[in-house]
Amino acid sequence: MTCRTIAVANQKGGTAKTATALSLGVALARTGDRVLLVDADPQGDLTKSLGWRDPDSLETTLATHLSAAIEGSDDDPAAGMLRHREGVDLMPSNIELAAMEMAVFMAMSRERMMGAWLAPIKSDYDYVIVDCAPTLGIIPINALAAADSVLIPVSAEYLPASGMTGLLKTVARVRRQINPGLSVEGILVTLYDSRNNLARDVERTVRGQYGKAYRVFETVVPRAVSAAEAAAAGESVFAYDPEGKVAASFSRLAEEVRRG
Ligand SMILES: Nc1ncnc2c1ncn2[C@@H]1O[C@H](COP(=O)(O)OP(=O)(O)OP(=O)(O)O)[C@@H](O)[C@H]1O
Ligand SMILES: [Mg+2]
Repeated sequence: MTCRTIAVANQKGGTAKTATALSLGVALARTGDRVLLVDADPQGDLTKSLGWRDPDSLETTLATHLSAAIEGSDDDPAAGMLRHREGVDLMPSNIELAAMEMAVFMAMSRERMMGAWLAPIKSDYDYVIVDCAPTLGIIPINALAAADSVLIPVSAEYLPASGMTGLLKTVARVRRQINPGLSVEGILVTLYDSRNNLARDVERTVRGQYGKAYRVFETVVPRAVSAAEAAAAGESVFAYDPEGKVAASFSRLAEEVRRG
């Protein structure tokens, strides 16, 4: 199987990007796929959610590899790779990625640094899933440039306003100028509380406004306390609350993603 790289992105904060990258990755790994998770957020939320509580103490991170790509220096692309007990690999990030932003921005082929790092290790994986920070800066653009598709989590707690348009325009621009192969994997409604009228409105609006042009996943990810607790415990919902509805939803999402 050839590797599929999926960027999980939305420049709006708090739409469950990190939770989605983590749980989708673990769901795919549980059914036998080789999965690399890439933390591309200087906050290191994905790194922390997988149990590495102090990302700033990690010496080798995504920033190290982007720096090597810029300088064209010798680099073992797998250096610093962390292996999580639930069967996924993680390239962590920490605050050094923020310091790298300007260097990446100034580099020649500045959009292609993440792709240059990933190219030699992609063949070791079936899926690479990149958790993007809530911006449309140069690092998320690098993720889009390196990706086959972008998965867009949308929170059911706010009507999706202009944010989605900005992201979809950026995706179209990246496709035109840098990565013609980039597609929209799908839009995923997250943090869904069925007792909440707004959540139902958001789902209806997303399906109505975007469902013709893009895939809106049938799967909706429910809001549940156990999901936030799992992140605090450094494990996925599959380990923390295996019978729960959030784990079940990510199994279904993995099936939808695998079907393509
Ligand atoms: N299914 C869920 N049910 C309840 N809480 C959740 C769920 N998924 C994520 N959360 C919580 O919601 C918050 C936001 O989730 P997350 O960090 O994944 O969003 P994000 O889009 O990555 O945020 P940012 O834009 O800051 O990167 C976190 O506190 C997380 O623990
Ligand atoms: Mg995040």
